[in-house]
This record gives sequence, structure tokens and C-alpha cells, in this order.
Amino acid sequence: MNLFDVYPLFDIEPVKASGLKVWDKNGVEYLDLYGGHAVISIGHSHPHYINRIQEQLHQIGFYSNAVKMPLQEELAEKLGRLSGYESYSLFLCNSGAEANENALKLASFQTGRKRVISFSNSFHGRTSAAVAATDNPSIIAPINETNNFLFLPFNDLGVVKEAFQQEDFAAVIIEGIQGIGGVYIPDSDFLEGVEKLCKEYGALLILDEVQSGYGRSGKFFAHQYTNVKPDIITTAKGMGNGYPIGGVLISPEINAKHGMLGTTFGGNYLACAAGLAVLEVMEEEDLLNNATTVGNYLMEELNKLEGVKEVRGQGLMIGVELPEPCGPIRSKLLNEFKIFTGSANNKNTLRLLPALSVTKAEADQFIAAFKTLVS
Ligand SMILES: Cc1ncc(COP(=O)(O)O)c(C=O)c1O
Repeated sequence: MNLFDVYPLFDIEPVKASGLKVWDKNGVEYLDLYGGHAVISIGHSHPHYINRIQEQLHQIGFYSNAVKMPLQEELAEKLGRLSGYESYSLFLCNSGAEANENALKLASFQTGRKRVISFSNSFHGRTSAAVAATDNPSIIAPINETNNFLFLPFNDLGVVKEAFQQEDFAAVIIEGIQGIGGVYIPDSDFLEGVEKLCKEYGALLILDEVQSGYGRSGKFFAHQYTNVKPDIITTAKGMGNGYPIGGVLISPEINAKHGMLGTTFGGNYLACAAGLAVLEVMEEEDLLNNATTVGNYLMEELNKLEGVKEVRGQGLMIGVELPEPCGPIRSKLLNEFKIFTGSANNKNTLRLLPALSVTKAEADQFIAAFKTLVS
């Protein structure tokens, strides 16, 4: 049997990794500034992470959500404390798309409405409602077509207001920072204005923090650079440092009913052990501060380069806009300098999404290589 060929591949086969280093099958060492697509939050193969999962596997690896799992409660408590959302409830699932799917469903249950506002250049995942909320017609199959989503221009409060004046919406869904679209930050005024409109018109505000959350922006969630308090926050990627886990943080105004949401694997013991290990390391190693410090340093250094058109980002979610498509430069970084970087739908934007533990020395290694390619 062949693999279904849907992924354009890097030409390397990683076999081992530690921190920000990855080794291929020939023993060649790479610097990972892509983090396996914003997933590696505390670094590859962190010893505490390995121990936590190993110990849990020796205790009990799986049972269904039909039993009480204190580890889920421990994860909810710790996530609440570290994120500042103690009063919210947590629903655990397996991925970012699934988190958004459940968030959209909850908003529809809660309001009894169907229509949702989403934004141009957005990405929310590939399951049915999540992909329908995504501004990319090339990944929407006929079965996903629905008129439940209204796409509005990003950062334009006036049009959101007009839309609310014309019809009822269940929710507005927006990324904390647009990721795949090319690293675009919603203006504080815009986000706060959208929150006000949602309250005024009885719609829920869903913040998709799947990529921008878990400390990547230097705050626990990127929207915490503003005064907004969303009704629902979704998270995944960095939450498990590679172990599949997603979460929906739900405000106290939204009531749970038995059976309204559910999943077989979501919140299993191993996923919770991985999720707890990530939070413990984030706290122990002060990774939010590191993300801010090294992220700011990287952006300052990138801004000094003449060949760079624009640098966008917060913390360690950085988009470097070049005057031309960045594909050839990314290939050179990988093949000549042995550095992984990310791309974006916007072909001129190179994305940096390293683990939150990246050091200044590793940032310098990248800057030294990048300088030779762009200036
Ligand atoms: C903002 C955002 N939302 C949702 C998703 C979907 O997450 P997953 O691939 O885990 O389903 C992604 C993935 O890149 C994302 O960046």
C-alpha cells in the first residue's frame, strides 16, 4: 500500500531530536525553527515530558470518557491557572480542527443560531464546520459548502458592525494571530470592537488560539495583548508538544449538558500526561518570558536586514515578508545551512515558529545564515 500523497515533503527524514536539534538518518544535524508546524513548544524529547508520559503508560494508558479521570481535572486546573482563565471549563479533544468544530457547535447550541462571521485569509482546520469557516476555497469540498459562514475583511470593524445590523449570528471566529495566512495580528481596537458587537447582538466570540496560543506569542494566549475575554478559546498544537491533544476553554455563561459534545480519545491519560508535562516545563523554565525576549531579539535583528520587506509577529510567531517568493531561500536554509523554517499561504512570507525554549545563540545562528541570503 502507498501513502495517500497529500503532503509536499521536505527532503529529509528525521530520526532523532532534542531541544531545537533534529538529526536525519545520515546523522546530519538541523536547527528546527519550524517546531514541526508550531507544535513543539517545550523542545523535542524534553526529559520531563518523556518521564511523565512513560510513567503514565506504566499506570494506565487508556480508558474511555465514561469514567472519572483526575488527570483531566489536574490539567484543567493548571491550564486555568497559567492562562488566567480559572473560571472557564475545559473540553478535551484531539486536534485544532476538532476544537474549532466543537466551539462552533457550542455557539450554535447556545444561541440557537446558524450563521457565523469569519475573516478573509483565515484558517480554522479541515473538518466540516472548521473548513467552512476557512477562507481557502481550494480545500473546501462540495460536501463542506454551506452558507453558514460570512467572510468579512480582516481588521475592518465597520463591516462587522454593518453585518450585525443586518442579521443574527451565532458567533464570530477569529485567530489570535492569523498563522497560515502569513502572520497577521488583529488590531486591539478591532478585536475589542468585535467583542462589544458580539455582546450587543447576542453572538459568541470564539478565539482560535490553536497556533498562536500556549505561550507562542509571549502571552499565554495572543488575545491577551488586548482587553478581550472571549466566550470560547480553542487550543491544540503546542498543548501536547507533539502528543495529539486539543482543548476548548468555555466561559461560565455556557452550560454543559450530558451528551452535547463527546469524543473517544479526547483527554485520554497519555494526552493529559503530555499536556501537564508541557505546562509544568513552561512554568519551571519561564518559557513565556523566553518567547518574548528571544522573539523580540529575532524581530529586531530581522528588521535591520535591507532585503526584508516587513517583519510581523509577537513572541515566537514571526512572519518575515520578502519582496519575492521565499521558497528558494527556505530551500537554501534547509539544504545549505541545515535550518528548518515554515512557509505560509502568502508565498513571500517565511514563518518562524521555534520551540519556546529557543536560545539567543540559536537565533544568532539563523540570523547569520539568513543575512547571507537576503542582504
Ligand atoms: C489557527 C489554526 N486553527 C486550526 C488549525 C487546525 O489544527 P489541526 O491541524 O490540529 O486540526 C490550525 C492548524 O494549522 C491552525 O493554525
